Amino acid sequence: KRDFLRITDLSREELTELVERAAEWKLLGKGGPRPLDRMTLGLIFEKASTRTRVSFEVAAYQLGGNAMFLSPRDTQLGRGEPIRDTARVLSRYLDALVVRTFEHAKLEELASQADVPVVNALTDASHPCQIVADLLTVAERFGQDAIGREDLSVAWIGDGNNMANSWLEACARLGFTLRLACPEGYDPDPALLAQAGRHARVFRTPREAVEGALVVNTDVWASMGQEGEAAKRIRDFAGYIVDDALLAAADSRAIVLHCLPAHRGEEISEAVLEGPRSVVFDEAENRLHAQKALLELLLAG
Ligand code: CP
Repeated sequence: KRDFLRITDLSREELTELVERAAEWKLLGKGGPRPLDRMTLGLIFEKASTRTRVSFEVAAYQLGGNAMFLSPRDTQLGRGEPIRDTARVLSRYLDALVVRTFEHAKLEELASQADVPVVNALTDASHPCQIVADLLTVAERFGQDAIGREDLSVAWIGDGNNMANSWLEACARLGFTLRLACPEGYDPDPALLAQAGRHARVFRTPREAVEGALVVNTDVWASMGQEGEAAKRIRDFAGYIVDDALLAAADSRAIVLHCLPAHRGEEISEAVLEGPRSVVFDEAENRLHAQKALLELLLAG
């Protein structure tokens, strides 16, 4: 069985082909082959989700399979049944597990006990499925080759969070340049930064990171589970908003990504989110096409 817990679970070639295949699925629309015939996905989500949950469910149906949402609140997981027992039992019924949980270690434990592929639908450490959709969004604007080129400069503005970590893994795999602006104390995982080597660098001002960038990318500063820190984070991220003034420093062709949900007026201005450089709703749509390519890879080879 093959899991997808982080971007680096795929080789450079596999990741490139996955993005290409996602573009093909996009062209096929609701048509095309049905490689998940009679297969059922289990979606175990400890945290709320709109895009990830719906895109996986629709992807499963359009590929000829089924999806079953399993809220921990309504299963024995929420009443303390061990993860290892749950993973082994669900492997007898289901063909893959798509899991959103707070702790990455919990996901790894589940994956180690499951006999079926396990997909990371977001943990505290990474959000790899989102990055595949983001790479597709970049590729459809600048060409498939762009994501493998050092002269593609991607700016990340904000928290060195799970998304930033997955972007670091992606630049390590593909070789584009990642310039992160994070306030002191909000750096991404240092091991992933080291792994990315010359392909990634952290700055302390958004302007430095955005200089000449073709992709400008941000995300909420206080995501689910960090609400208690919201006031402090808003203070710490002062000046980190992606607005027209910041975009003036980017390449004139730059596009703006945000994985959504967005907090308008905090990490991104209304004018930028709704403006001509924003591709955030294409990015959200691309989650569906990316999930199809991923499920096909993991379940149909
Ligand atoms: N971007 C993203 O993961 O959205 P959801 O939390 O709605 O799934």
